[in-house]
Amino acid sequence: MELRQRFPRTANRASQGPVNSEKPRLVVATRNAHKAEEIRQMIGDRFEVLDATAFPDLPEVEETGTTFLENATLKALAVSREVGGLVLSDDSGLEVDALDGRPGVWSSSFGGDEGNHAKNNERMMREMKGVEERAARFRCVMVLARDGEVVADFSGAVEGRILDGPQGEGGFGYDPLFAPEGHDESFAELGSEVKNGMSHRGRALAQVTAWLEQGA
Ligand code: IMP
Repeated sequence: MELRQRFPRTANRASQGPVNSEKPRLVVATRNAHKAEEIRQMIGDRFEVLDATAFPDLPEVEETGTTFLENATLKALAVSREVGGLVLSDDSGLEVDALDGRPGVWSSSFGGDEGNHAKNNERMMREMKGVEERAARFRCVMVLARDGEVVADFSGAVEGRILDGPQGEGGFGYDPLFAPEGHDESFAELGSEVKNGMSHRGRALAQVTAWLEQGA
């Protein structure tokens, strides 16, 4: 089936956003520059990838869901009601077995302040101090929407363990504290190419691109 048929165009969008390219446009429903950059690096040059910062009038989306899928759906739909074309959301987080799966969907405010990675990592180190069981995984759920309707959802995960202390300067969020299975280095040390090749986000996005290519 052709991409056109899967995603019929409609007019009268509140905001069409900037139009800079002949490529099909994918709007990533996030203001998190790190997430958007990783997605941009991975998706290659088939799409023009914009993020929510290109649409200053978009409303803040309250993440009131209790699962990654619920929150990813909320974000994709909220943006897709406002901007034309394909919208992709990413809801992700870190599940730690010794913490009964926390912080999970609340990963970004674990330390008290929304999006404060230093505080999140401090709390993680505090709670994991002296804990022997260190298994953890990153999860990512992505939702594609168009014209205010969900068209598909995808998920990815990467198993690993929580390190005793931060290692490395790269990546973002909990990357300095997370070593993926088979590695002693953290995601922050391994670098973006290695991380993207095995990460929760990379795995979810590989399914997104395969799905898009089927229709193209
Ligand atoms: P969200 O914006 O509600 O999806 O929150 C995602 C949060 O999970 C981020 O703020 C980080 O704390 C954490 N997180 C998600 N993906 C990653 C990653 O790839 N590396 C490190 N932390 C991540």
